[in-house]
Amino acid sequence: MNEVGIIILAAGQGKRMKSGLPKVMHPLCGKPLFLHVLTTAKRLNPAKIAIVIGHGAEAVRQAYTNGNVTWVVQEQQLGTGHAVLSAKNSFKEFVGDILILSGDVPLIAETTLNAIIDLHRKQKASLTFLTASLEGSSGYGRVLRHADGAIAGVVEERDATDTQRRIEEVNAGIYVAPAPFLFSALEKVDNHNEQGEYYLPDTVAIALKQGKQIATLKVDDSREMMGINTREELAQMEKTLQERINRKWMDNGVTLKDPSTTYIDDDVVIGEDTVIGPNTHLRGNTVIGKRCQIDGSAYLTDTQIGDEVHVKFSVVMTSSRVAVGAIIGPFAHLRPGSSLGTNVHIGNFVETKEATLGENTKANHLAYLGDVTVGRDSNIGAGTIVCNYDGFHKYRSKIGDRVQVGSDSTLVAPISLGDDVYVATATTLRHDVPAGSLAFNERQERVRPGWTEQKREKMKGSKK
Ligand code: UD1
Ligand code: CA
Repeated sequence: MNEVGIIILAAGQGKRMKSGLPKVMHPLCGKPLFLHVLTTAKRLNPAKIAIVIGHGAEAVRQAYTNGNVTWVVQEQQLGTGHAVLSAKNSFKEFVGDILILSGDVPLIAETTLNAIIDLHRKQKASLTFLTASLEGSSGYGRVLRHADGAIAGVVEERDATDTQRRIEEVNAGIYVAPAPFLFSALEKVDNHNEQGEYYLPDTVAIALKQGKQIATLKVDDSREMMGINTREELAQMEKTLQERINRKWMDNGVTLKDPSTTYIDDDVVIGEDTVIGPNTHLRGNTVIGKRCQIDGSAYLTDTQIGDEVHVKFSVVMTSSRVAVGAIIGPFAHLRPGSSLGTNVHIGNFVETKEATLGENTKANHLAYLGDVTVGRDSNIGAGTIVCNYDGFHKYRSKIGDRVQVGSDSTLVAPISLGDDVYVATATTLRHDVPAGSLAFNERQERVRPGWTEQKREKMKGSKK
């Protein structure tokens, strides 16, 4: 069978986005636009994938470092035709079919791409392109047909007459053509149009002129061929994709209490019988286990959570790991590098950072645990602070197994508390404590009977 090569166009600036970020780098459900296209392209197992970059080339290249794709730099963005032509050298010996995708059309489905390649081959076409019906569309090129339905040409909206603009069939910007025809046709494309650009759709006119066979495939669901040109379109597509992702997880046995306020990124994974409350954001590469409960207003990024974890109301977690059965929140903040063992409890107003907590350890109220390893079955009292920073450096500390840290204690890092240590309430510790010891500060407790009344009497006169 004939080989397929893929070219993804991703060099444009995206002027209509009004952004310092290249358009194809704008995230859609947590992933840059062009990575959605690339993920779908890879599923076709093509012989080669070339990505044409230009505007913000370095940023785009760095967004995908784990695979063999060919990067083609289009120094000046002179139009979509010019962009494809800049990939010519990457397909020197290639005689198979080339599928051209747009980095700003992220929802295009694998099934549609297979269908267009099949149709192209069945019809022995020299050029096949995807079309869609869009009412009152703006921005898309229009498809011109003869009375018998045969293709008469395509025209960009900017170059179209009023009558042509009323045509509902649009060019989706996805093409298949054998490499030799494609590149030879592109050499003939000029830039005599409203934008002064070399238009890829002009290859349609060249194919017609040469009497070549042209085929078209119309998508059923026009949402999949929508391009992103503006922030408004990005927001609409975010909604479309979010609905699709949420439906997928509900189909897979996840309860979403309020799908309309549940934001799940494309690469997130969630286990069966997990229940997710409103206003929950699951971002990046977050993985949630089975039978978990997330009460609501949670913001979890790149975080791995085991089975049967309860995330109570209003919790933020970033780049953290949580083992089976843990209970977190309400109002807790797990910063990067937090790792909680089985059945760990983290309560309200507790912040952790680069902190490892062993099985069954609890920090239930108002604590800061930064750069510290805590063993198992320990209890961190309310108001405990691990003072990890002296204004110059950060230091790591260690707290053993079965340690009881009394409320309102400060542990000045670097410090090590052995197993079975008891720290009395309101203790400041600067030195290591050996296993099994009690640690406390010598401080006299004084009481002055009758002091309050005396004070009030004294102050009465001074009050105006
Ligand atoms: C293009 C088509 C239009 C079609 C629409 C479908 C052209 C001239 N027009 O319009 O017929 O209806 O797509 O979505 O092709 N790019 C480059 N280098 C360039 C210019 C663009 O790599 O020099 C890339 C862009 O980054 C983008 C893609 O090509 O990913 C399409 O370019 P864009 O400017 O968005 O074209 P549209 O105006 O949407
Ligand atoms: Ca576009």
